[in-house]
Amino acid sequence: MANPIQGVWRQGSPESGYGRLVLYFVPTCTSEVWPVQAEPTLPQLRELVAEFGPGKGHVLPALHKVQETYGYVSRPAIEVIARQLNTTAALIYGAASFYSDIRTAPPSHEEIAWCSGPTCRLRGGDRIREAIQQVLDLPLGGHSDDHRYGLHMAQCNGTCTEAPQVWLNGTVVGGLTVASAIELARKVKAAE
Ligand code: FES
Repeated sequence: MANPIQGVWRQGSPESGYGRLVLYFVPTCTSEVWPVQAEPTLPQLRELVAEFGPGKGHVLPALHKVQETYGYVSRPAIEVIARQLNTTAALIYGAASFYSDIRTAPPSHEEIAWCSGPTCRLRGGDRIREAIQQVLDLPLGGHSDDHRYGLHMAQCNGTCTEAPQVWLNGTVVGGLTVASAIELARKVKAAE
């Protein structure tokens, strides 16, 4: 399920050239397709992105469509998108790795997205992250071996009144303290 369009400040992009401050409106994708589906075939991927014509403006919509359908954007999917958009796989991969809401690896069953935005960090977001990482014993961007839980970095989505916050499977968990973050992480780790 796609989330609403959100305004996000980003430092440049693969399309604009890094180093410029640009306001983007990108759909965040928090679809949880789990257990991960079988790897789609190339014809399935081609059909999925067939609506997109050549042009860099279709990079994000195509990436999101694949992720919403299959839970993440695999390497073959990157190559199919590149061919469909008449560009290079390197450009598609660059965009996929630049945008923190695009996954290039299968999602975990319980996925915590830690907000790295300025308001969350001013309100103690780094201590929240450290506490969660300590409980889950994961680096940022990591997941358990069985993909039952994972942690990745996310961008501010404008709901800063709830800072510091994370998203658990796409649902905001705001007003966190170190104690409540530890409790959340323990529940995530214990979830079946
Ligand atoms: S800084 Fe975290 S939601 Fe805005």
